Amino acid sequence: MLYPRNVASLQQTVPTSNIEPSAPLVRRGRYLYPPGLRMNLPFYLFRKFFKPGNPILLFEHLRRFGRAAHYRILFNDVVLLNDPADIREVLIDKAASFGKDRTQKRMKILLGEGLITSDGETHKRARRIAAPAFHRQRIQRYGEQIVALSGALSTQWEAGTVVDVSAAMMRLALQITARTLFDTEVTPEIHVINDQVNVIMDLYNYLVAMPRAELLLNSPLPQMRRFRRAKATLDAAVDSMIRAHRSEARTGEVSSLAQRGDLLSMLLLSRDEEGDGLKLNNEELRDQVLTLFLAGFETVANALAWTWLLLGQNPLAESRLHDELDAVLAGRVPTNEDIPRLEYTAMVLSESMRLYPPAWAMGREVLEDVAIGPYRLRKGTMVFFSQYIVHRDPRWFPHPERFMPERFTMEAKAARPRFAYFPFGGGGRQCIGESFAWMEAILTLATIAQRWRLALVPGQTIEPQPKITLRPKDGIRVVLVPRK
Ligand code: HEM
Repeated sequence: MLYPRNVASLQQTVPTSNIEPSAPLVRRGRYLYPPGLRMNLPFYLFRKFFKPGNPILLFEHLRRFGRAAHYRILFNDVVLLNDPADIREVLIDKAASFGKDRTQKRMKILLGEGLITSDGETHKRARRIAAPAFHRQRIQRYGEQIVALSGALSTQWEAGTVVDVSAAMMRLALQITARTLFDTEVTPEIHVINDQVNVIMDLYNYLVAMPRAELLLNSPLPQMRRFRRAKATLDAAVDSMIRAHRSEARTGEVSSLAQRGDLLSMLLLSRDEEGDGLKLNNEELRDQVLTLFLAGFETVANALAWTWLLLGQNPLAESRLHDELDAVLAGRVPTNEDIPRLEYTAMVLSESMRLYPPAWAMGREVLEDVAIGPYRLRKGTMVFFSQYIVHRDPRWFPHPERFMPERFTMEAKAARPRFAYFPFGGGGRQCIGESFAWMEAILTLATIAQRWRLALVPGQTIEPQPKITLRPKDGIRVVLVPRK
């Protein structure tokens, strides 16, 4: 059999028997915290958990405390919530008491006041302006481009070749992003944007680990110099794409922008009708464009990469997928109209994002003292919840480590609490690109799986690496096998 050794290290879930539901809450003055690590998380433990750069290991350890766990680091209170009802309170019922957590705010260094990093009125305005660009009908037009680009990749592939499908999905998602966000090929400018985002992301871990890193930004430290160079190059590349779009608008081509309909054109045309009636200024536009670039490209690429792995490991699911594609498409290329009928394809992707959620954790900061479930949390507490952990809770997903797309029939979904599964977050900050992501993932998977089986190269160890998104650390090698 062509299976790789099982996915390493993070595959296991914490058995319910290891969870200690009876551990008492911790009273601190007026506040009540969940049980957890008693002392300030000492650095040797941090090293243990973070050495492989893998905070999921810490979250898995904390899962043993049951519904929620607490620890302190550098005098900050941190709470990990594992229960869907508590997560719902944070994201929906008491969302006003929470803001983006400090680590995400640090991303302002890169993303300014974009949708991900802003809060309050700035965020609401940005969301109002961006919303029309993501309207279901608007994004329909991208379907054809997605199928064309996926089809081109599938035509280039040669039977018997070994490819790293994770890298292939990244390249494809980059092409799709270039086409749908900027209406271009992957130009040298797009490569610049991608390369510089990667440089900054590598430095970003360093910045996050340093208290008051913002103050160091203008210092002569080599890392900061590199950061400044990368950011300047990045800004110049994005600005030049915006200028090119604007100049079309200036030469009387506004209607052509509307016709063109890429996300950047939509942002250029959009006004805050409900608010000040104004458009985004240059800086705001740059922040939004970078945000969309970052949020929309790696996430979908990783969702697809993990899906190929899981299909390679689960031949029954793979053959059911093929049956559906053959029945629905009968050999023709998929279109948007096919999406509602590609039910099993969507179930495969849902189950894949359960096991390997591209956004593997989310965080919020308590803005005012607040009660969540039985806990009373102090202003300033950081609250985290991890899709990776919650999606593997055996209460909602029996035998959580098994790949079973049948968990996502309508009935099965309705039987679970809302936040047992939340790959796209929820509440007022739910992923704005969710419909787009579904369309991209379904059409790409359908277009490629219609023609190819991706057989896993045996003997490889595949390790999930939680960076900004959850990615396979050393890629996923597959042999291309034509289906017909
Ligand atoms: C499989 C693909 C994707 C996954 C798993 C995903 C996941 C998420 C999650 C969990 C959030 C909420 C973060 C939070 O509340 O802290 C989010 C927000 C966001 N996503 Fe996605 N996303 C995906 C694809 C996309 C795409 C394709 C785009 C755009 C083209 C996009 C743009 C955004 C933006 C702008 C936000 C911030 C929204 C706000 O705060 O108002 N995402 N995404």
